[in-house]
Amino acid sequence: MEKKLKLPALGLAAGATLALLAARGERDMRMSAVEKYFVNRPGHAANVARHALDLVARTPIEKGEAYLDVGCGTGAAAREVAARFGLRVTGVDIDPAQIAEAARGLAQPNLTFLTMDATRLAFPNASFDVVATSKATHHIPDWERAIAEMARVLRPGGHLIYSDLVLPVAPRQLPSSSRLEAVAKRHGLIEVYRARSFAVLDLIWRKSGS
Ligand SMILES: C[S@@+](CC[C@H](N)C(=O)[O-])C[C@H]1O[C@@H](n2cnc3c(N)ncnc32)[C@H](O)[C@@H]1O
Repeated sequence: MEKKLKLPALGLAAGATLALLAARGERDMRMSAVEKYFVNRPGHAANVARHALDLVARTPIEKGEAYLDVGCGTGAAAREVAARFGLRVTGVDIDPAQIAEAARGLAQPNLTFLTMDATRLAFPNASFDVVATSKATHHIPDWERAIAEMARVLRPGGHLIYSDLVLPVAPRQLPSSSRLEAVAKRHGLIEVYRARSFAVLDLIWRKSGS
């Protein structure tokens, strides 16, 4: 019974978050101190890491491959992916404070954190085997450009793992199902996995070519 009440409440909370973000306009969609407090809590970080591991486990990967986490926050997911799958992981985030926090964690030789804007990734074309992004695109007004950049740095045949709050219809600065499909088509991203839990949409795309 309790579970039944909780799930719609979560959906409503996610919808309210998106409405607030949309109302904030295009100028500042980065996290406020309050959002940061909730997103960076250890319990939340553990959930985020678990979710990332689940999605990576569904993706064809080989040990030693290059993995990019865009909007990595404090790096909880990146750290677990590097430890569990033996990938060479790079985490990037626009917020230097988030990156400083990420870099304070356990040092791993296959893990690097860099301050970087998702809409201007400073990597050559096709330099990653896997690109992942979780709960970040709804903070990026030009999220379509961010996905274009993720597709650019992904090698043909590589995979893009996407997870975020996505509504069927949303203002242009927030990801919506239909716009995501159009963006994926434009960049040669072929859907190989999809799951939805209320407002959260998980997608895995394979970049065309090999
Ligand atoms: C809600 S947090 C999600 C963090 C982590 N990926 C997770 O799943 O918990 C959103 C993150 O996106 C980052 N972000 C916002 N705009 C960005 C941009 N243009 N480029 C890179 N990161 C960005 C924020 O600084 C923040 O750390």
